[in-house]
Amino acid sequence: MNQAPENYALLTVEGKEIQLPLIIGSEGEKGIDISGLRRDTSCVTIDPGFMNTASCYSQITYIDGEKGILRYRGYDIQELCKKVMFVDVAYLLVHGELPGESERRNFSRQLNLNSMIHEDMRRFFDNFPQGAHPMCILSTMINAMAAFYPQVDLKSMADNIDDSCARVISIVRTMAAFAYKKSIGEPVVYPRQDLSYCANFLNMMFDSPVRPYVISPEAVRLLNTLFIIHADHEQNCSTSAVRVIGSAQVNLYATISAGISALSGPLHGGANQAVIEMLRMIQEDGDVEKFIRLAKDKSSPFRLMGFGHRVYKTYDPRAEIAKMECEKYLASSGYTDPLLDVARRVEEAARKDSYFIDRQLYPNVDFYTGILYRALGIPENMFTVMFALARLPGWVAHWKEMIGDSTKLVRPRQIYMGRTGDEAKREIEKRSIAAHLI
Ligand code: SDX
Repeated sequence: MNQAPENYALLTVEGKEIQLPLIIGSEGEKGIDISGLRRDTSCVTIDPGFMNTASCYSQITYIDGEKGILRYRGYDIQELCKKVMFVDVAYLLVHGELPGESERRNFSRQLNLNSMIHEDMRRFFDNFPQGAHPMCILSTMINAMAAFYPQVDLKSMADNIDDSCARVISIVRTMAAFAYKKSIGEPVVYPRQDLSYCANFLNMMFDSPVRPYVISPEAVRLLNTLFIIHADHEQNCSTSAVRVIGSAQVNLYATISAGISALSGPLHGGANQAVIEMLRMIQEDGDVEKFIRLAKDKSSPFRLMGFGHRVYKTYDPRAEIAKMECEKYLASSGYTDPLLDVARRVEEAARKDSYFIDRQLYPNVDFYTGILYRALGIPENMFTVMFALARLPGWVAHWKEMIGDSTKLVRPRQIYMGRTGDEAKREIEKRSIAAHLI
């Protein structure tokens, strides 16, 4: 067997040997560049779920699933949670640098100027049925933005990325709060120019003409932390959806709407709501071990929601932060939640069980975050909306990176396993339309 030059992989297909370039990322990740594979071997690769496939090069987020590392533009999320606010992280993800004082002032001003929604759009909320899921409302409303903010061609949005990004991040926050108010039959609360991003959201959610909302700095700090740990996660399902849709040069609003739809799935962003529903079911039943057995039973559709991850094969660093915040915030606020004790017991039982150990299944970002949203007074049907609000800067950053790379249209190949042309020809020769003409 020939020895491949240092940065190549050797592949032999039907007796023909080819060299495939080995790509080494800035943190040492290795990839085999197969962009010439079909040309050189007439073969494509097959990788359902893309478990072994990198879809792009990116400079935005780095994850080490074995070591439990998550960095945005090189900064560990633990450091970012301690040192900056969510608005700074949003700027960092989109622009690649933490904002200086003037950039931050300008970005905050743009977030404020873009926080109102068109009054005609506000009336849309009156026409959603009472029980409409806020994620459905959100993806509909953001898609409709292209009708109200028509400068959606890629060039104008990319040239004005600050404005486009601020509008998406700010308006969607207002839409989310309006969707909640609609769902409880209360009048909407407009954004205030004197409040920070997270304080404004809490105020729009919970203030009311008859029950003024007292903004707690500790609640604002917790919400900033929750938004920071959700802000990006490289090529997850919804971000990949954003890149796929965006590669067709669809406008940013329709692209983000696709991301919101992908995130709403229970295997993805919808898991935070599913975790609370599961913990409540376990609490009512009382037998944790029964549900651990059920999660392992292949004949049962039940899975331990909030456990397992495609990339993390150790504790999700975001889950660690959320678990620590559960101890910290609940203690400082005097709030207690019996589901936290259930969560702790489920984690303890699962992490001692060989099924979970052998498959490297640990708590992921969704396992404890629902407890924190409950502590903030966020209703369960808004949990995934919270995830979407936090993920907006990540989606915008990937959209911007993708349109900046003179990206090719995303169009994977497939391996056809259906009826052959000869089989179809034999079958259709037996048919005749004569009997059906009249
Ligand atoms: C998010 O990708 C991202 O980065 C997403 C995200 C982000 O920030 O964007 O991190 C957010 O989506 C977090 C994940 C939230 N989803 C859940 O908590 C739902 C429960 N988790 C699972 O459905 C599952 O772990 C996935 C979907 C998250 C990952 O599944 P994979 O990578 O496709 O792995 P798999 O389904 O092939 O599982 C491997 C094995 C299987 O058993 P065997 O066939 O080997 O016997 O592990 C088992 C699975 O049955 N398994 C579980 C399990 N998760 C995996 N068994 C019971 N309970 C679980 N939760």
